[in-house]
Amino acid sequence: MGSNYDRKSELKAFDETKTGVKGLVDAGVAKIPTIFVHQQHKLEVKSHSGKSQISVPVIDLEGVYKDANLHAQIIEKVRDSSEKWGFFQLVNHGIPDRVLKQMIDGVRKFNEQDSEVKKKFYSRDYAKKKVLFNSNFDLFQAPAANWRDTFACVMAPHPPAQEEMPAVCRETLIEFSKQIMKLGCTVFELLSEALGLDINHLKDIGCAEGLLLLCNYYPTCPEPELTMGSSSHSDSDFLTILLQDQIGGLQVLHDNQWVDVTPTPGALVVNIGDLLQLISNDKLKSVHHRALVKNVGPRISVACFFRAQNDSSECIKTLRTHQGVVIRGKPSNLQGNHCQRFSCLLPLQRSGWSPFTTAFQAVKLVCNGVRKSASAWVTSTSVS
Ligand code: OGA
Ligand code: NI
Repeated sequence: MGSNYDRKSELKAFDETKTGVKGLVDAGVAKIPTIFVHQQHKLEVKSHSGKSQISVPVIDLEGVYKDANLHAQIIEKVRDSSEKWGFFQLVNHGIPDRVLKQMIDGVRKFNEQDSEVKKKFYSRDYAKKKVLFNSNFDLFQAPAANWRDTFACVMAPHPPAQEEMPAVCRETLIEFSKQIMKLGCTVFELLSEALGLDINHLKDIGCAEGLLLLCNYYPTCPEPELTMGSSSHSDSDFLTILLQDQIGGLQVLHDNQWVDVTPTPGALVVNIGDLLQLISNDKLKSVHHRALVKNVGPRISVACFFRAQNDSSECIKTLRTHQGVVIRGKPSNLQGNHCQRFSCLLPLQRSGWSPFTTAFQAVKLVCNGVRKSASAWVTSTSVS
């Protein structure tokens, strides 16, 4: 990088436009600004060749509560996929196609509305706001910016007042969240059973109390091979349900290779988050994933993060006391590095709980046993 390049000023100038990546595309950029250029080795496309037809497991929920045999088979698939992939796709999950389509359309409408209206939502004040829009939550900390704008909304346990939500997608956000919350509860029931726990256990300890929606808009990119939509990261919640459109780009790291999560009409992608890996004593896996961009688009996705309401939730307590959940009748004390990782959790959370904070942030901050600065944390793990 030439010495004339003043990264900080460029980031600031970009942020101050408040129109995000879409603003650049609308202005007709033919080359992506340097702040978006990723180091080549991180982009390295060791994608799966497709020869062995390996793909993320698809689980059909049709009849899950109607037939005991089928129920047992589904639980087994959920267990196997969550242990080996950390990812699966769900079909026949009960959320009507109409609701999914409306949600994708709602995100499109939000991003494609008059930019003056959109600018009013532009903010980085995660501590105070439940609804906000920006480009790259970690713009000033990450080594390279991602080709993505995001609208974020905390939908549970305390959703914002209706007037606070964007007029173009208010009803859609409410309807979609209601349905996702219900499906999330079903998935937590299946996961509880998969771990040999009481069907209600993960719900009862509060893993599904909180719901944060991150609505991602990845504009078409003139130089897709130089940047990323989302850098490689693992999710820091308990569980994520992701709705994506049909463009594609999401990849999951499996056996050291990037495997496409192929868009399937009507399907929802489910992945295990860091906190579920932690409380299950590493039985379920929180796996790295990323999103590539293309010169077609925009691509739209909605990531629904299930997380605790706050640090007094039972599920967070199990971490603080290093207990985790009791698996197959045996208490599973969190061992070794877990204890180290959580030793600083409590004071950190007390000082910084916000609608957007989840315990993972603290976990990742202390994962080397020492509190790191936020920028060091983001640089070393590229957390979403
Ligand atoms: C995320 C994420 C992937 C996608 O928001 O955490 O992984 O396809 N998104 O948008
Ligand atoms: Ni993610």
